[in-house]
Amino acid sequence: MNDTSATQGFGIDIGGSGIKGAPVDLGKGEFAAERVRVDTPEESTPDNVIAVVLEVLQQFGWDAPFGCTFPGIVKRGVISSAANVDSSWVGVNLEKELAERTGQHVTIVNDADSAGVAEDRFGAAADVDGVVIVTTLGTGIGSAVLHDGKLLPNTEFGHLYLHHHHEAEKYAAASVREEKELSWEDWAERLQVFYSHLEFIFSPDLFVVGGGVSKKADRFLPLLELDTPIVPAGLRNDGGIIGAALLAAERAAQAVS
Ligand code: BGC
Repeated sequence: MNDTSATQGFGIDIGGSGIKGAPVDLGKGEFAAERVRVDTPEESTPDNVIAVVLEVLQQFGWDAPFGCTFPGIVKRGVISSAANVDSSWVGVNLEKELAERTGQHVTIVNDADSAGVAEDRFGAAADVDGVVIVTTLGTGIGSAVLHDGKLLPNTEFGHLYLHHHHEAEKYAAASVREEKELSWEDWAERLQVFYSHLEFIFSPDLFVVGGGVSKKADRFLPLLELDTPIVPAGLRNDGGIIGAALLAAERAAQAVS
């Protein structure tokens, strides 16, 4: 790799609608070049998605360790849930598949966990100790819990059952607002149920709200009544890429030390 490899990492964010990647300045927690986005293949099978991930890496000629998010539970590189992508992902060792195809050290992380780590290091939670809950509102609802900067991985608050047995993400994800054409007020009522429940269970010090809709946070966050501060993600929708690059660089450094 060229001499930027010590200060730059690379992150890829696999989402239900797009697969995005960019080199990341690890010291600043920001993109080092404009990101690339490719639509997620309609049939979001492992083979199809992996082909796009490789295409994104090739576009930048990236040949060093990298990180990649996945919108499901990830344990030691293996995918163990796939709520919003093809169900054939369950059981796939994505870390091994990508490492074999690229010859690089690869780190796979849940998408919301990745965004959570990035928010904690460089975003809205950077100066906050205690319990921070980062949620991403998109096709589904993702969650990350950090305590004094340490991640508790693979929380799945989008699958909590709420309110007459609705799964939280089927009731309050940003995609539900769009599909049902809910007003901001009506959607905020649903979010209120979700965040009040989380607040009661975890007594967090801060909620951070990410996902594409966080651009419009002023339309719905002020409508929520919570004792806990709730703020939009500082890194907007870029946290997945940035967090994956940060975690990958840390893990690759541990692997060689
Ligand atoms: C998945 C989570 C993911 C979230 C956001 C949920 O359906 O179960 O793992 O973080 O969607 O993509």
